[in-house]
This record gives sequence, C-alpha cells and structure tokens, in this order.
Amino acid sequence: MQILVLGGNGFVGRAIVEDALAHGAEVASFSRGKSGTPLPAQVTELIGDRETGDYESLQTGEWDAVVDLSGYRTRDVDQAMDVLGDRVGRYVFVSSHAVYVRDLPAGTDETAPRREPMRDAEVLTNETYGPCKVACEDDVVERYGDRATIIRPGRVTGPGDTASTVLYWVRRGAAGGRVALPTKPEQPLQFIDSRDVGRLAVQLITDARSGGYNAVGPFSTIAELIETSADLAGRTVELVPVPRDAAPARFPLMEPESEWGERRRNPAKARGAGMSVTPLRQTIADLVAWDHDRGTPDLDFGFTPEQEAKLLASI
Ligand SMILES: NC(=O)c1ccc[n+]([C@@H]2O[C@H](COP(=O)([O-])OP(=O)(O)OC[C@H]3O[C@@H](n4cnc5c(N)ncnc54)[C@H](OP(=O)(O)O)[C@@H]3O)[C@@H](O)[C@H]2O)c1
Repeated sequence: MQILVLGGNGFVGRAIVEDALAHGAEVASFSRGKSGTPLPAQVTELIGDRETGDYESLQTGEWDAVVDLSGYRTRDVDQAMDVLGDRVGRYVFVSSHAVYVRDLPAGTDETAPRREPMRDAEVLTNETYGPCKVACEDDVVERYGDRATIIRPGRVTGPGDTASTVLYWVRRGAAGGRVALPTKPEQPLQFIDSRDVGRLAVQLITDARSGGYNAVGPFSTIAELIETSADLAGRTVELVPVPRDAAPARFPLMEPESEWGERRRNPAKARGAGMSVTPLRQTIADLVAWDHDRGTPDLDFGFTPEQEAKLLASI
C-alpha cells in the first residue's frame, strides 16, 4: 500500500507515518520541511508550501490514499485535490471535533449537528477554526464521495505533543504536594493518544471505509490526569480548588462547565472500525519519557511554583 501524508512530520502526522510503516506501507510525506523531528529514512520527503500554493513536488506519483493533516481552509484542500485528482484512491481528511456545534450534551456521535461552514478566514481562531474545517470536509466529500474519509480528533496528546497544555498538569502532578486547581476536580477530559489516531487512519484506509469518525479516547477527568501523573512519579497530591479568576484567562485545559459535554463524545464508530485505545496511564508515561528525552524545556504558561505557593498560602 502506498500512502501520501500531507504533514507527515507534524505531531499527529508522525504517528500516522509510523503506523503505516509498521503495517508495511510505502510512505511519502509532503510539508515545508520546517517543523517536527526528522522522518524515518524510508519515508520519501516531498517539499512544498500550501500557503503559497506550491504543490510542484506532488505533480507526479500515485498513492492508494492521501491523509491530509495540513488542510485548514477550503483553498488548501481544493488546491491539493486539483493537483492529486484520481492519482489518489482515497482522500482522508483530518478534521477536528471542533466542527460540531458548541454546548452539545454528553454522548453525541458523528450524527451531531455541525457548525455553519466558513469558506475562508484570514486568521484561525476558536471561532473560525471549526467552521473552516466544516467547509473543508464538505469539499472533500463533494469531490471524492465514497472515497472520502473524515477523521475528527478530540484533543490529541502523547509523545511529541508540543502544545504542552496536557504536559503542564502532568509535570505538576509529578511534582506532588498541594496543587492549586482553578476548576472542579471532576472536570471531564477526553484525550486521544496520537498513536490511536495513527492506528485508526491506517485501518480506515486498509478497509476502504468512508464517512466521519470521532477519534476520541477514554473518559477521564482533570483529577485523574493529575493523580495518575503523581502516582507514576511515586508522589502524592492534594488537589486544592482555587477560584477560576485566580488564574490567568488562558490557563491549560480549563473549560467552562457549559462545554463539558464536548469531553464525553461517543467513540463507538471509530472503535468498531479498529481504533486502538491506549490507557491514559500509558499515554502519560510515554509523554513523560519523551519530555525527559528532549530535556524538559520550560513551559510558558500555568502557575510558576512561586505564584502557586503564594495563592495556596492565601486560601
Ligand atoms: N493536535 C491536536 O490536538 C488536534 C486535535 C484535533 C484536530 N487536529 C488536526 O490534526 C492536524 C495535525 O495537527 P498537528 O497537531 O499534528 O499539527 P502540527 O504538529 O502543527 O503539524 C502540522 C503539519 O503541517 C505541515 N505544514 C504546516 N504548514 C504547512 C504549509 N504551509 N505547507 C505544507 N505543509 C505545512 C507541518 O510541516 P512543516 O512545518 O514542515 O511545513 C506539519 O507537518 C491538523 O489538521 C489539526 O487541525 C489536531
């Protein structure tokens, strides 16, 4: 099987590349060659830039499937589809759970209503990202029909997760002691391990499955994330709820209660199609190992130890 990955050197793309290689596929990755870590030697690296419409390196070649991880606006997918045409057997678009309308109750599946499509946006924000992905999904389905597959990941984490919002709490749990928590301990979380997204993508291609799939992982809570991280480090924690406004507005993984249903999406369809389910404890352990390997660089958000100690002393 031959697979082209648009964005194979990125965080999620890397997991798809590795799963495809592990299952014997020949893999090519298309990107600007700017981010991520070097790709395995057996991957064919194709250089181009979607921002400037430079798809020259994709003018030749045929693949059983393309997995598009770097499409954010309709012009991205439209240009890629124009270039690739029927030289790809299947178009797998990596969308997002942000396509769904906000404030859905817990337990919704792929039939939940999506937001209004937005064909273009100068800047991708919380307000434009989801609607732009909706329009991309529509264009891919319109062009490839039964040969279109849509993957909608929730918050992805695991080794290589440079976004670091999960890592803040993992490191904080591992440090042990009294933890200032600007939310309720039962705040729901629903991460997906990047390797489970990789497994799903490759299995969907292998089985030629069409339609949309929620790539979401096991149910958990912020308390479970912190306590499991502490336990893995051989420490204990005491979670001390602090007022939400005692923390900066953009604080890692804090979400309003009205959006908690979005962390309880139904993964049954993806699991039925072969998505693996890495336990949270394993994901955390592998995230920590990766963080140590890269030298645990400073994170530029969350409380500093001094800020947290001062806040806890005032309660
Ligand atoms: N991470 C999550 O939690 C999450 C959740 C839901 C959905 N998703 C979706 O999953 C996809 C991948 O996310 P990610 O977190 O893996 O992102 P990422 O690590 O930022 O990777 C983005 C990839 O796209 C490539 N790229 C960026 N700009 C490009 C350009 N102008 N031309 C060509 N290639 C370009 C990058 O390589 P170069 O920089 O080398 O070009 C890289 O390979 C995205 O579509 C995202 O919307 C992610």
